[in-house]
Amino acid sequence: MIVDERITAYINSLGMELPQELRALEADALAHYVPIVKKDTQGALKFLLTLQQPKRILEVGTAIGFSALFMSEHTGADCKITTIEKVAMRLVEAEKNLTNPIYPHKDKIKLIKGEALEVLKQLVEEKASFDFIFLDAAKAQYMSFLPELMKLLEMNGLLVTDNVLQDGTVTNSRYSITRRDRTIHSRMREYLHTITHMEELSSVILPVGDGIALSHRI
Ligand SMILES: C[S@@+](CC[C@H](N)C(=O)[O-])C[C@H]1O[C@@H](n2cnc3c(N)ncnc32)[C@H](O)[C@@H]1O
Repeated sequence: MIVDERITAYINSLGMELPQELRALEADALAHYVPIVKKDTQGALKFLLTLQQPKRILEVGTAIGFSALFMSEHTGADCKITTIEKVAMRLVEAEKNLTNPIYPHKDKIKLIKGEALEVLKQLVEEKASFDFIFLDAAKAQYMSFLPELMKLLEMNGLLVTDNVLQDGTVTNSRYSITRRDRTIHSRMREYLHTITHMEELSSVILPVGDGIALSHRI
């Protein structure tokens, strides 16, 4: 938790109620320790989707499909969502959820199985483009995804990157964290430095959830 727990709880108490079926999916994910978008991040995501009104969304990191289904609720009927996942166990659950008729907008979503970097390269080859990208996968890989994401992100498009502050630990001294986290943190810092200094992007980092970076392609 980056922001004081009481403040986060208060903000979340003002937020929207999820539809019953998504609430059940969220509870199921949390019960099984599947890392899905936090409540306050959901609020930010909903706000951005309403503002941007995207037509083509790319999500990197499906997990069990919660955020894809959440985005399908807050976008127009003509919006398509492409989401990428590589882990077999997650894919089984994602496929089950994304074909479940209880989710009224599931048909907007296309699940692509595979290693994100390879899928992104394939999408570039196919000349795909997106006006909204939600990056929520392995943090250490964000830097290697970035060149491909920039080829896919349209002018005026929005790149939303989740978990960029690693629950606030990204600023911890390197001596107080494990070797693995040290690598993730230094790669994340490199990613954040890059997106905040790129001419093609106007970026802001917000202490929402585990930290989100919003980058507008200009
Ligand atoms: C934080 S979870 C995604 C949560 C999901 N966006 C949600 O909020 O419902 C990250 C997911 O990214 C997947 N992932 C991580 N690195 C990946 C990669 N290189 N290619 C494809 N999937 C990846 C993981 O298996 C995991 O399921």
